Amino acid sequence: MWNELKSHRATVSGRSILSLFDDPERASNFAATFGNLRFDFSKTNIDETGLDLLIKLAEDADVAGRREAMFTGEKINETEGRAVLHTALRNLDGDPVTVDGQNVMPEVLETLDRMEAFATDVRTGTFLGQGGKITDVVNIGIGGSDLGPVMATLALAPYHDGPRTHFVSNVDGAHIADVLRPLDPRTTLVIVASKTFTTIETMTNAKVAKEWMSDKVDNPAGQFAALSSNLDLTAAFGIDADRVFGFADWVGGRYSMWGPIGLSLMLAVGGQAFRAFLRGAQAVDTHFRAAEFRENLPVLLALVGVWHHQVCGYPTRAVLPYEQRLIRLPAYLQQLEMESNGKRVSMDGKDLEVVSGPIVWGEPGTNGQHAFYQLIHQGTGVVPCEFMVGARGHEDELAHMHRLLVANCLAQSEALLRGRSLEEATEIMKAKGLEGAELDRQARHRVFPGNRPSTTLVYPLLTPEVLGQIVALYEHRVFVEGVILGINSFDQWGVELGKELAEALEPIVAGEQSAEGKDGSTAALVDYIQTHA
Ligand code: F6P
Repeated sequence: MWNELKSHRATVSGRSILSLFDDPERASNFAATFGNLRFDFSKTNIDETGLDLLIKLAEDADVAGRREAMFTGEKINETEGRAVLHTALRNLDGDPVTVDGQNVMPEVLETLDRMEAFATDVRTGTFLGQGGKITDVVNIGIGGSDLGPVMATLALAPYHDGPRTHFVSNVDGAHIADVLRPLDPRTTLVIVASKTFTTIETMTNAKVAKEWMSDKVDNPAGQFAALSSNLDLTAAFGIDADRVFGFADWVGGRYSMWGPIGLSLMLAVGGQAFRAFLRGAQAVDTHFRAAEFRENLPVLLALVGVWHHQVCGYPTRAVLPYEQRLIRLPAYLQQLEMESNGKRVSMDGKDLEVVSGPIVWGEPGTNGQHAFYQLIHQGTGVVPCEFMVGARGHEDELAHMHRLLVANCLAQSEALLRGRSLEEATEIMKAKGLEGAELDRQARHRVFPGNRPSTTLVYPLLTPEVLGQIVALYEHRVFVEGVILGINSFDQWGVELGKELAEALEPIVAGEQSAEGKDGSTAALVDYIQTHA
């Protein structure tokens, strides 16, 4: 199927995307809706034949079978021997889901209730710090134990009615120092979020936070909570079992914010809004599991991704939310997509026949427009752009600003589609009085090649439910792309080597061991750092 797709692409690559709109049905045929979401992929060079081939590719890869295997708790994370059941965390109806013959739902729902009871106690002042009601919550975690909660907490700012939430992730001491400086330890709750409870960055920060608190609080561990699947280590850290929220090994780090790892979000917005967030994701799960591929938003999003990266060979994709509060969504998606699908061998250990997942990057509009859009419009490479925007913003009194935001978002995808020809640019410069060789030279700088693909995801308003839908949509997109590539999207062996080497380098940097045996560059860098420390 790859060959068929590549030869189809070769036959259509010279075609203008704009010409596809000669078909008056183009915009409706190459868009799909689910609930209130509308995913428009009509501004791409995918046509009926291309879409049929892409759907065939997904069918041949047995996306439907693997999807069912995931939802029903089969151990599809084969290199770690684990099921993949983040969907169970938002299965609010509690329909049974079994792993090793055991229904996991009673425990999932009980943990959710415990989290909610604790969050309510903190928010109402039933749970007190030594200095009274908790005013600030610091979530210490990294990767999946940080990016999801940070992204969602920022996204749902209009729904915050709990304590202020802060996030510390980096092992750079500057991070925790800056976060803790303005806080009062007597009214701060520290959450240590780590699936393994061994991650060096998180455990180092957790110890620093405990020391910071012990200066002013008699029982610092009493103002700590833990989110982890390693209950022995949370106990060893001194955190009371009442404030430990566990989850099973079938929740991958980057898929974990729907459960205990989402506690900071729940503290900020409350249990009801958190459940609405889960409900949004659950609705997408149901849709993903049942809808025909042609109507299935996650499948279509994945097929567009495969078309642009593996078939057309565009190396990156930009995620461009016209929603300031989604400022951390690109970073969140970088982990979700690149840690999941940045693999070099297939599930059976063979070299991949096609390139693995793309580089994902982005920034909210309109800020990005004044930074890197120049390259997107006139650079020599093609960057498929994924725009997203709400029909409304939360600031009704600033509706005029929202209209400007929307106009900018739509203008960008229109500009990418249409471009500006040399004739048009020449006319513009002629009207400014230029002529001859200078007219030609100046006009050429003002040409936009256009014919650059983009998709647009639109939603009514960024509510907790809509955010849940958007994130679940992307999660399942990553899954479908991974199945098509034949890889395991749920392990992350590629982060191990750096961790091991860092552990070995720490005593060398500290001067306790020599750099003998290290390559010349590393040894020289260590030497510089020791000289200038
Ligand atoms: O970066 C590797 C990784 O294992 C991620 O997958 C994970 O989200 C992160 O580290 C944090 O892990 P933990 O929650 O166990 O501290």
